[in-house]
Amino acid sequence: MLDIAFSDASLPTSGAIAVLAAPGTPAGAFAAVDAAVGGALTRAAKAAKFGFDAARTCVVLAPGGGYDRVILVGLGKADALDATVAEQAGVAAARALSDAGTAGVVVADTVAPDLAAHVALGVVLGSYRFDLYRTQPRKGDAGPLANVTVACADPAHAATAWQPLAAVARGVCLCRDLVSEPANMLRPPEFEQRILALRDLGIEVEVLDRDAMHRLGFGALLGVAQGSDAPPRTVIMRWNGGAQGEAPVAFVGKGVTFDSGGISIKPAAGMDEMKTDMAGAAAVVGTMAALAGRKAKVNAIGVVGLVENMLSGNAQRPGDVVRTAAGQTVEVLNTDAEGRLVLADVLWYTQDRFKPRFMVNLATLTGAIVVSLGIERAGLFSNSDELAGHLSATGEKTGEKLWRMPMDAAYLELLRSDVADLKNIGGRPGGSITAAKFLECFVNDVPWAHLDIAGTAFTSKPTSHAPKGATGFGVRLLDRMVGTYYEG
Ligand code: BES
Ligand code: MN
Ligand code: ZN
Repeated sequence: MLDIAFSDASLPTSGAIAVLAAPGTPAGAFAAVDAAVGGALTRAAKAAKFGFDAARTCVVLAPGGGYDRVILVGLGKADALDATVAEQAGVAAARALSDAGTAGVVVADTVAPDLAAHVALGVVLGSYRFDLYRTQPRKGDAGPLANVTVACADPAHAATAWQPLAAVARGVCLCRDLVSEPANMLRPPEFEQRILALRDLGIEVEVLDRDAMHRLGFGALLGVAQGSDAPPRTVIMRWNGGAQGEAPVAFVGKGVTFDSGGISIKPAAGMDEMKTDMAGAAAVVGTMAALAGRKAKVNAIGVVGLVENMLSGNAQRPGDVVRTAAGQTVEVLNTDAEGRLVLADVLWYTQDRFKPRFMVNLATLTGAIVVSLGIERAGLFSNSDELAGHLSATGEKTGEKLWRMPMDAAYLELLRSDVADLKNIGGRPGGSITAAKFLECFVNDVPWAHLDIAGTAFTSKPTSHAPKGATGFGVRLLDRMVGTYYEG
């Protein structure tokens, strides 16, 4: 993650700078720089019909006065300037600065110090890159942004406001790193190692291996795992920042490190994207890192089920019957509906052991949710209006938007099996809903929500807070939801 510093608004007189400015008469640093370059900025803005709309940029090359480039970044109308707009301005500034070099200054002298910290968050999230496996820079690539200074009116105040946001940014970047890793580099044991590193943040980590899961009766999860040479794991993270004895909040993630579909194999085209089928688990890990990193006053549990869904002579067959930790049996009619099998055991175990205030699970669960909601919103399924309300409202704030889906009892009827208690597929119609109803059978009436993030975890085009690729969806959402409703 790049280094952020805060300075006062005494400006550099050379190099590349990004100046945040609202529509109207030039003010503050923008007016000062414009005067220093003989009005070149206002002339360029006029020629480009640049209206200073939120997060729009106008790049002015060699305006004079020693500057290589001055990037004008719109802040939009003053009354609409909030944390999200500040973050989007930071994202836009970072994108434009990274075309120029590896360091830069973002001038945010006209926004409140708290919002200057959100500009910094946008800079970090917008400049994210996954370069681990590049041995050579791409042609014309200036390299990743490494140092950015945010110049603002009250740098000490902004730096203090930045501390918790930096922890959130690290959580988002950790999530993106995990999702971006190719599946040969991140199988369940490597994923476990990455989680163990969170002990440095004060998170307690406990690992269930195959034997431990066998003793707990995790027949559904182990059935998915049995076709892979990589051993499965369930990893439990605990952050004890709240009152002793207070029931924890719990987050549960689907961590299928690669989803080939198993014997019900997926088509070849696009199968590579199934390296991201652990994005739910990555979001849980990122959220726990954010909460611990900012020392949130809450008791939180994160539990991830890590398996690889592969084909082999020992792989699970269509028609197999497995016994879940809850005791219910499931007929596996399609081995590609594996996420719900993993989550069935992990959800049951989480509520049974930790008696949480609520459970939220995240999962790249169904292609059907992409058909329903596209990449703009994740599906929200819940048995609790209160929890669903908290999640929806927070999502509107952070831009990780959700849309609540129905959960009528009638959908459960589609999951009745001829030979077992349940079958793992309910047909194509309402495919995301039957998947959610399946999960609901394993939550034991604890307040619970399921976020189907199949469309939002990974994108082929940049979003408001992320470059193309892994978005980190869920980390800012869950961190902010805890902060707003469940802390202290
Ligand atoms: N991991 C997939 C869902 C998915 C699809 C995630 C596209 C991201 C992008 C999941 O395990 C799966 O294969 N679901 C099946 C369910 C079906 C067999 C009932 C699907 O959606 O086709
Ligand atoms: Mn699948
Ligand atoms: Zn899957």
